[in-house]
Amino acid sequence: MRIAVFPGSFDPLTIGHEEIIRKALPLFDKIYVAIGENANKKYCFPLEKRQQWIRQVFAHEPAVEVAVYKGLTVDFCREVNAHFILRGLRNSMDFQYEKDIAEANRRLAPEVETIFLLSSPELAHVSSSLVRELYHHQGNYSEYVSFEL
Ligand code: PNS
Repeated sequence: MRIAVFPGSFDPLTIGHEEIIRKALPLFDKIYVAIGENANKKYCFPLEKRQQWIRQVFAHEPAVEVAVYKGLTVDFCREVNAHFILRGLRNSMDFQYEKDIAEANRRLAPEVETIFLLSSPELAHVSSSLVRELYHHQGNYSEYVSFEL
C-alpha cells in the first residue's frame, strides 16, 4: 500500500489544495488529508467545520481520509504507516520554505519521503489566507472554495 499524508491547517481547504489531492490520487492507494492542530495557533474556522468540508468535497473518493493530528507530521506518518508526505508548490517562495521542512522531516524520519506536486499557474495565487481575508471583508470567495463557508 502506498500511503501518503497531505498535512495542513486547511483553514479552509481551497481549490488549490483540492487540485493537489486530485493530482495525487493516481499515485497513492490512500491519502490522509491530515489537519495538524497546534494549540497555540488561532484558526479562523473551527476544527469540526474544516474536517466536514474536506469530507464533503472528497465524499466520492474512498482513497481520501480526513484525519486530525497533534505534534509532528512524521510521527503521524509513522502512526498510519505512511511513507510519503505530500505538499503542493505554487511558486519559488513555497519551494524555499518547503525544502527546509522536508529536510528537517527527512532527518527525523528517513523512511518518509516528501513528494511535491506543482499547482497549475491558474491557481498559483490561491491561498487559505486569501480566502480568510475575503471572508472577513464580505468579499466574494466563491471561486476559491467549492463549498459555502
Ligand atoms: O500548509 P500549512 O497550513 O501551513 O501547514 C501547517 C502544518 C500542519 C503542515 C505544519 O504546521 C506542520 O507540519 N505542523 C506539524 C509540526 C511539524 O511536523 N513540523 C515540521 C518539522 S519541524
